Amino acid sequence: MNNLMEEGNNSFVPTYSQFPIVLDKGEGRYVKDIEGKSYLDMVAGIAVNSLGYNDSEFNEALKSVIDYGLLHCSNLYYNQHAVKAASLLCALSGMDRVFFCNSGTEANEAALKLSRKFGKKFSPIKETIITMESSFHGRTYGSMSATGQVKYQKSFTPLVPKIIHSPLNDFDALKAKVDETTCAIFVEVIQGEGGITCADASFLQQVRTLCDEKEILLVFDEVQCGMGRTGKAFAWQHTSVVPDVMTLAKALGNGVPIGAMVVKGEASNVFAPGDHAATFGGNLLSTRAALVVLNRIKEGSLLEHVSLVGSYFKEQLHLLKEQYPVIKEVRGMGLMIGIELHEEVKPLISECMEEGMLIVSAGTHVLRFVPPLTITKKEVDEGLSILKGVFKRRFG
Ligand SMILES: Cc1ncc(COP(=O)(O)O)c(C=O)c1O
Repeated sequence: MNNLMEEGNNSFVPTYSQFPIVLDKGEGRYVKDIEGKSYLDMVAGIAVNSLGYNDSEFNEALKSVIDYGLLHCSNLYYNQHAVKAASLLCALSGMDRVFFCNSGTEANEAALKLSRKFGKKFSPIKETIITMESSFHGRTYGSMSATGQVKYQKSFTPLVPKIIHSPLNDFDALKAKVDETTCAIFVEVIQGEGGITCADASFLQQVRTLCDEKEILLVFDEVQCGMGRTGKAFAWQHTSVVPDVMTLAKALGNGVPIGAMVVKGEASNVFAPGDHAATFGGNLLSTRAALVVLNRIKEGSLLEHVSLVGSYFKEQLHLLKEQYPVIKEVRGMGLMIGIELHEEVKPLISECMEEGMLIVSAGTHVLRFVPPLTITKKEVDEGLSILKGVFKRRFG
């Protein structure tokens, strides 16, 4: 433990249990610690750094905002980057309007408030929100209450009322919970923190039909699975289902904090001036960052790359599964892949780190791979070779 880590341990509120490295630099798909050790990055700041590190176009774009001298001007005024980023988000999604904020939890707070106001248009009791078990929507009160995992909530009760949970991919269970009080259903198209679990296209279709029948908003949390991670701009675009509301953050800014709530149809006419706000939301720096990412997605070759490299990566992990019965399942899409083990993954993560690769868990038993979307096949092979070495030592 060096002095800097000790200083951190003495000065941070201890909300994180941190690995004993201090990261300092990035290049391509590699990060370096302050001692100069290089790591292949399969974490990307938890599905954030989608363009990889030291991308020249991204760097120049941010520098140009700084050179113009205006990083922030408040939403009392327009700024060109926010307008263009919103237009591009609408074009990529086929949705109608965008609210910018600073994080995933904030995007979900906006969606929760919008859902309740939408319900009130029909009836004062239409205020119940249904989300999925094992979901993760954030850490602030609304989105923590929306999260379908008790471990994030148990010390912080009472929660926001009238948010209930139903199992993912079980339409009958969901239908049984829907009544005249339901105003919105939230689904992560691929559950991230919950263990890389995909929503079935048929489930999403059934939920869409139910929402249409009962005047219920369908909200997709694409904070982790969106922005190109699955090989489409948004994970729901692999299906024929379009949500009323979508929430984004993480990779939208490639490391510059930004979140967004994107709305379509009736949902775009719910909020009026004064209903919701975020001081920093949509400022020039974060929306300029988002513009680079959105343009890269629009251009198309990045998405193709994600599909190709992601399929290859998954295939290789399936082969590893055949070799190691400790692997229970390989799941995911594009470059959002999880392998569930029959045992806890924590020690494997530390061993991979020692061998020069960063990986993160999703729950206790799932190893999660969410590298920069620009990762090459050769780098995937390098990661697999580190992983195989660790598996061989542990499991023979
Ligand atoms: C699906 C999903 N929603 C919301 C959040 C919360 O995002 P943030 O940490 O930016 O508040 C996360 C974070 O992991 C997430 O994965």
